[in-house]
Amino acid sequence: MTPFVKAFFDEGTFTVSYVVREPHGKACAIIDSVLDFDHASGRTDTRSADKIIAYVQEEGLNVEWILESHVHADHLSAAPYIQDKVGGKIGIGDHITVVQDTFGKVFNEGTEFQRDGSQFDALFKEGDSFMIGQMRGDVLHTPGHTPACLTYVIGDAAFVGDTLFMPDFGTARCDFPGGSSTTLYQSIQKILALPDETRIFVGHDYKAPGRDEYAWETTVGEQKALNIHVGAGKSIEDFVSMRDARDATLAMPRLILPSLQVNMRAGQMPPADEQGNVFLKLPVNKL
Ligand SMILES: [Fe+2]
Repeated sequence: MTPFVKAFFDEGTFTVSYVVREPHGKACAIIDSVLDFDHASGRTDTRSADKIIAYVQEEGLNVEWILESHVHADHLSAAPYIQDKVGGKIGIGDHITVVQDTFGKVFNEGTEFQRDGSQFDALFKEGDSFMIGQMRGDVLHTPGHTPACLTYVIGDAAFVGDTLFMPDFGTARCDFPGGSSTTLYQSIQKILALPDETRIFVGHDYKAPGRDEYAWETTVGEQKALNIHVGAGKSIEDFVSMRDARDATLAMPRLILPSLQVNMRAGQMPPADEQGNVFLKLPVNKL
């Protein structure tokens, strides 16, 4: 099965969102959508999500799933906004409960914030499968960047979120709470064990040095041969020392504090106060 994949690139957060649809049908899933957020003003905008919605409507697609590869730390999810407009069930990995527990504490959330993943319509675990029309999706649990990261394998296409990036850029950071470079290396081996011709669609692209264009599609075979962090048989020891040294130099993503508070709630804002105002917290010296 070779699904048709349409990519939407958000240059503000370097995120790639995908619509993956049946080759001969109208069923589709939307993966890793973006709700635009201006940190300085605290304003949201639906421009990015509206492009996806317009595509879905123009093509007459039935949105069966709105999938998250993980709790993103660099952009807000538009899943509830999209669900409201075109339907679909919101799915994420079942280890979301670990992430909710960690950040429920960081943000001192009260008992209103459930840590059981109940904000989502479906929680997937390793080995689960689901249908998009006649097309089957299989779930790989690929933690390391975060504890709840999933890879969705749909036909010959693998949506790897933030595990592998393009071969010339390498891999995702592992220094967020619950992250582990050792675990990421092991997760990547699961992805590299897929057939060489499997198409890989990455969750971000930042243009590697020497490359002028954004890119997001590669293959398992290319990753195995060329990935600068894990390709050509790089050992786990070499990977872990490289990854940990590099992560120690990275700044926090610009939108990490708003993103986590919203994405751990399946893209919902925290509850409004009595006047209907919504606030996000800014914990001091916590991250
Ligand atoms: Fe991420």
